[in-house]
Amino acid sequence: MRTIVVNGTVINAEGRVAADVVIEGERIVSVVPRSANAVVPGPDDTVIDATGCFVIPGGVDAHVHMQLDTGTTVSSDSFESGTIAAAHGGTTTIIDFAEQRLGGQVLTSFEQRFAEAESQCVIDWGLHQVLGGVDAQALIDTRSLVEREGVASIKLFMAYPGRLYSDDGQILRALQMCADTGMMAMVHAENGLAIDVLIEQAVAAGNTGPEFHSLTRPPELEAEAVHRAAVLARVAGNAPLYIVHLSSSHALREVVEARSRGTNIFAETCPQYLHLSLEEHLGQGWPNGAGFICSTPLRSRHDHHQADLWEGLRIDQLAVVSTDHCPFCLREQKLANGEAFNVVPNGIGGVEHRMDLVYQGVVAGHISEERWVEVCATAPARLFGLGAKGVLAQGFDADVVIYDPNATSVIGAATHHMNLDYSAYEGVSVQGGVRTVLSRGEVIVNNGTFLGRVGRGKYLRRDVSRHIR
Ligand code: URP
Ligand code: ZN
Ligand code: ZN
Repeated sequence: MRTIVVNGTVINAEGRVAADVVIEGERIVSVVPRSANAVVPGPDDTVIDATGCFVIPGGVDAHVHMQLDTGTTVSSDSFESGTIAAAHGGTTTIIDFAEQRLGGQVLTSFEQRFAEAESQCVIDWGLHQVLGGVDAQALIDTRSLVEREGVASIKLFMAYPGRLYSDDGQILRALQMCADTGMMAMVHAENGLAIDVLIEQAVAAGNTGPEFHSLTRPPELEAEAVHRAAVLARVAGNAPLYIVHLSSSHALREVVEARSRGTNIFAETCPQYLHLSLEEHLGQGWPNGAGFICSTPLRSRHDHHQADLWEGLRIDQLAVVSTDHCPFCLREQKLANGEAFNVVPNGIGGVEHRMDLVYQGVVAGHISEERWVEVCATAPARLFGLGAKGVLAQGFDADVVIYDPNATSVIGAATHHMNLDYSAYEGVSVQGGVRTVLSRGEVIVNNGTFLGRVGRGKYLRRDVSRHIR
């Protein structure tokens, strides 16, 4: 028995074609242009009509934090609720993080995180390994994760001193390991030591409004850290380096400069940096401003950051859009410790709306439909070793989204599926929308109804490095 998606326009990163997609079991067996022989469905075949719609690969969100324990609270989406929300938005793969904390063991942290996710996910999932305490044993253990568990990427923090922070020596050692193994080093690039001084000074001066979260994390300190990470990656033997949640023109310029020197560097941005700003969102004050506190922070709309990020996506200075989905409910979590920017848990929820929010860049003429598919699915799959994801072609997993470019909706907490009592995009009108989502050949969302099963998502072992430039 086959499933055949007929009458749609198939869009891959390489181009588009009027074609039918033939699925057997979990895989695509052919993509048949309608100018060639028409696919004739048999009596046992399931036919899904995609007339007027795009047929695209399921989204790959390479940066999410489900039920992340910050030490004081836990991000509000479980793997179950977060992956259901992701599925509604056309994302069929997530990569979350196992987190080694200072003094903790890498392998234990991986096993614990794996156990948390295993029975809950409704879509396919993988894990990056966070190193919060780089030492000799941590590096030995992390190296072993490639073979043992199919973990092809690590994450390092240049921010958050005393918590997850690594110094330059630790980062260099970890990058040497990545150069040697081909593992991708994801880096949260902000100069955390300098930021902590600015935070201390702002708080001492009584400047504790939400906007000071952004003002104490200036773009120069993001750019400086990107520059330093790129230099260290080159010195380490040109380790594959991936800058997470890039938010500013300043940091983007450093990526471009490093690439021009042959650095093996890639970067992602997130919908919040493409759509939200310091003035309009953090500038709302308390309580709503708390909902926009995330790191890296939202930037000023007066400084052309958003225009530069869209342009960076268009011309491949930026490779990927991920969400950095890290939701906390407004009253119970964001404001639980009071109204001061430095005590609000960092993070924004958005896993459900990434495909739509990036599609608004197509509507506005910033990027093509093909590039939308590439930054949301194809590139993250390729960069993070997901060889069967991100492309609609023979042999790939049948993760297929039918996307109606003429649909319209308004984003809001009353209708979203994330376990979150507010939306950072409340009231935003969206052109285009997900109609049907297949994950490995199974329809899991149709016209807004979830049809999947909790625990059906498969853990994805990943390969290292298909991405050396
Ligand atoms: O504010 C954010 N991004 N919270 C999640 C953790 C991180 O730094 O990615
Ligand atoms: Zn981060
Ligand atoms: Zn993150």
